[in-house]
Amino acid sequence: MVIFGAGGDLTRRQLIPSLYELATKGMLPTPFAVVAFSRGDRDDDLFRELMRPGVEEECALREGSWRELASAMYYVAGDFGSADDFATLAARVREVREERGIPDNVFFHMAAPPSFFETIVRGLDGSGLARSTDGWRRIVIEKPFGEDRASAEELDREVRAVFEEKQVYRIDHYLGKETVQNMLVFRFANPGFEPIWNRNFVDHVQITAAEDVGVGTRGAFYERTGIVRDMVQNHLLQLLCLTAIEPPVGFEADSVRAETVKVLDGLAVTPFDPKEDAVRGQYGPGTVDGVKVAGYREEVEAASTTPTFAAVRLTLDNWRWAGVPFYLRTGKRLHQKRTQVTVHFRPTPHFMFPGMKREDLGANVLAFRLQPEEGIIHRFLAKRPGPEVSLTPVTMDFAYADAFGVKEPPRAYAWLLMDVMQGDQHLFARADWIEKAWSLVDPLVDHWADTPPEDFPNYAAGTRGPDAAEELLARDGRRWSEL
Ligand code: BG6
Repeated sequence: MVIFGAGGDLTRRQLIPSLYELATKGMLPTPFAVVAFSRGDRDDDLFRELMRPGVEEECALREGSWRELASAMYYVAGDFGSADDFATLAARVREVREERGIPDNVFFHMAAPPSFFETIVRGLDGSGLARSTDGWRRIVIEKPFGEDRASAEELDREVRAVFEEKQVYRIDHYLGKETVQNMLVFRFANPGFEPIWNRNFVDHVQITAAEDVGVGTRGAFYERTGIVRDMVQNHLLQLLCLTAIEPPVGFEADSVRAETVKVLDGLAVTPFDPKEDAVRGQYGPGTVDGVKVAGYREEVEAASTTPTFAAVRLTLDNWRWAGVPFYLRTGKRLHQKRTQVTVHFRPTPHFMFPGMKREDLGANVLAFRLQPEEGIIHRFLAKRPGPEVSLTPVTMDFAYADAFGVKEPPRAYAWLLMDVMQGDQHLFARADWIEKAWSLVDPLVDHWADTPPEDFPNYAAGTRGPDAAEELLARDGRRWSEL
């Protein structure tokens, strides 16, 4: 594995801990090595030392396992734009391979800021590192892939001039989350839900990715990116696609990915109106978990108009979903961390129980909880004990932790890195998916850029987001799920 941008948070908090997790599970191929390449002036030992705290924070570090992985980690200092530095990197990769007896199989992980991606790809091409005569080469590209459709197409042209589509892994770590994959299993391995998974039974769908954290040390990146590019164009639309997907013929990459692209086609038939169907927000100072925190403008930029919250109403015009709204919502510094998809069912055609109003009892809801406490929850009505027929909502829970006896599912990145090494692309976005996803959100990003908000900050840190998000659903006679 060759990591570009080894000095960043992603390498420290995700990539190296994921490799460590795979190593301790005995799932890392042997022999294996990591060569990190970035600008900072470090050597192998210093790099290993710098990576250790990340593993300590993210995993339970065991000395022996860490030492073994650390001894397979190497560092090359260099400039992404320098052909000489790329030649040094290529030579080092060759040496490490020979030293450790590794076949000529190399994947490159682009953990550097997106503005460097094209330069790095050219460096890989120029140095010959991108080619192998008797092994494979693969490239992993982080999101956001481009910053709008035009730049994504341009980046894709650059990447595809050097790598074939089957070598390109556009990573979206949400697809590696266990519960996300369970959504497909739930629908397509169990006979009971698929028949009601359509407009006849489903009233609407809500997808929420709420975070209690702020932008942390990523202010400069975030200021340029904003919530739509950071979360909606990729994570939330992927979740929508997997909720609404038609049954694929098989579980292999091409079948699944072809179906997710069709969902985006359905969303594009009647594009949402950025003025009517979307709400933005930015957090001000507030209290999260009893701790006072600063607002985005104090943390990043005084007059910033970058949104840290978005809620959008989408419709999917196809046979299965016509008329069923999909509401997406995501934000930083909300009152809790919670990612879930909830499917809200229509009421029964006739309600025969006296003395109660069906509307007061709430809908049947199926919730796929991605985090925390991964699982699937079904809310339905039951009779309260007693002589009268009095109904009340109850829940049936499948908790990942209880069912499988694991405290936390494996980290998404670990699974995805394994998929890359095994050449399995089905949890990675195809170029056409990325481009279509940009086409959907570009008008929103442009509209918000053209009409600077006058009410920012419009929600206090530690709350549920701006009031306008509640109104977006209230207009349709609905409410955000608190399940
Ligand atoms: C990343 C975004 O892709 O996902 C971050 O860039 C965000 O801004 C993160 O915090 C959320 O991931 P998770 O797995 O914690 O929901």
